[in-house]
Amino acid sequence: MTLLHFSVTFIFLCAAFYCNAQNVIYSGPGLQPQTIVMPARYFFVNFTHVDEETYSLKFAQSFAVEITGQSLKKARCRIWSNVLDRKDGTFIVRYKIYEVCSKLSINMFYMSKHIKDSPITFDGPILPDQCACPEKDLKLWLKNNQCPKTYEQINKDLEPFKNVQMKTQIKTIIKKYHNPDSTSFCHYVIKNNEIYRDCYGKHVGFNMFADNVLLSITRKVVLPDMELMINLGDWPLIRKGSEPLPMFSWCGKDDSLDIVMPTYDITESTLENMGRVTLDILSVQGNVEHQWKDREPKAFWRGRDSRAERLKLIDIARANPDLINASLTNFFFFRDKEEQYGPKIPHISFYKFFDYKYQINIDGTVAAYRLPYLLAGGALVLKQDSPYYEHFYRQLKPWVHYVPVSRDLSDLKERILWAKDHDVEAYKIAINAKEFANENLLPQHILCYHVVLFSEWSKRIKGEITVKNNMTHVPQAKYECDCNLKNQMSHEEL
Ligand SMILES: *[C@@H]1O[C@H](CO)[C@@H](O)[C@H](O)[C@H]1NC(C)=O
Ligand SMILES: *[C@@H]1O[C@H](CO)[C@@H](O)[C@H](O)[C@H]1NC(C)=O
Ligand SMILES: *[C@@H]1O[C@H](CO)[C@@H](O)[C@H](O)[C@H]1NC(C)=O
Repeated sequence: MTLLHFSVTFIFLCAAFYCNAQNVIYSGPGLQPQTIVMPARYFFVNFTHVDEETYSLKFAQSFAVEITGQSLKKARCRIWSNVLDRKDGTFIVRYKIYEVCSKLSINMFYMSKHIKDSPITFDGPILPDQCACPEKDLKLWLKNNQCPKTYEQINKDLEPFKNVQMKTQIKTIIKKYHNPDSTSFCHYVIKNNEIYRDCYGKHVGFNMFADNVLLSITRKVVLPDMELMINLGDWPLIRKGSEPLPMFSWCGKDDSLDIVMPTYDITESTLENMGRVTLDILSVQGNVEHQWKDREPKAFWRGRDSRAERLKLIDIARANPDLINASLTNFFFFRDKEEQYGPKIPHISFYKFFDYKYQINIDGTVAAYRLPYLLAGGALVLKQDSPYYEHFYRQLKPWVHYVPVSRDLSDLKERILWAKDHDVEAYKIAINAKEFANENLLPQHILCYHVVLFSEWSKRIKGEITVKNNMTHVPQAKYECDCNLKNQMSHEEL
């Protein structure tokens, strides 16, 4: 059986490869390594003639990538690459460059033979992400990085702010919102592309996330001088109806005026791609074990007890064990209910969530920051209605990208039964979700959102930007890089 299946697959692929070798499509920012600098560069390889039915493991194992280059000392360049198999005939190739490399060569093989256009080569030096060689022309950077001109969420968030006198606004924010026990935020100044900050609150450790993204961006592009206040807590701070004060937050709420940025979670997974972070929008696509048809038609959920509806979910799951597999992994907010809703069970790998078709997304203290990964994993997401939102929620449409569930979960069971009865429609929504993630939530998109947001923000502030002498300078990590190499090259290339 298996053997026969394999040989049929093989003939099919063979036809696709050798008789019509044009059926491979490449796309993605990792194919423009001279102009698009990222912590991990990535691109997609799409063997268009492979569909899910004929897909076999053998096929995946026969695809191989080797990326080489020459260091400045003419030795082999230090590059790490990996391939993520999306199990639908498409692959994600990621590579991380640890030093300046020239003569970069991307070799892609099927059954040890180069596939169409392989090797793809680049003569000029390719800079690692650590190099601080920022592009001076912001507009050019945005264009090179294929960033959208604008985002609806940014327009909405910045709407109340025109001609902002930051000096007075900063003072007012500190006066009204500085409460060391419950709030923490930092005043950032970007001046001559250098970063300075002054933090307020007891728990300011999370300023490392804001530092990281600002450092990463200012290595890539020269940002206009600006000041901004960044909230380090999860809760948005500026209520609608109160004086509109500019506060940048990771999570928004319908009744708040905070300006949302991508969460520290997805931002960190962007900056630490192929680094410290193992769960990111790319890896989740390659590490889920099962495709839709092999997943169990049940709803799955794991998480901590950070909201009452999460306990309610446990009740619903216990009453419907054939529809829902849900458990709490930790008790903190409702410790007194541990006996009733426990025992808490150990964490399982996030990738194992996708052994199940349906994923429940319920708010924690604020929006559940796992939503991007659930979408990318090709799940049918059952999303609790919520006043909280992240930077991309505005673009999501119910019944297109997810199935809505009422805030009190009263229709959850009904929704799961709908999905079981409408597998084709449910699968379509899951596919839309994955496409959405690939078009809006990849590392490139997260960087773009920040840069467009900061750039638009800088246009709204008036007055001279000055660095108070007691502010902390946040320097780039020391890293030797000859930025002239890049400039010489880009002129030659022109
Ligand atoms: C691969 O490319 C084909 C042809 O453009 C397209 O129809 C298909 O959706 C692509 N597959 C994926 C997973 O992007
Ligand atoms: C719930 O899911 C976990 C993880 O997949 C599995 O080990 C367990 O057996 C499931 N429980 C039930 C009752 O199906
Ligand atoms: C820095 O100085 C300003 C006044 O110039 C003061 O309001 C602020 O609290 C100081 N910050 C720190 C961290 O000392």
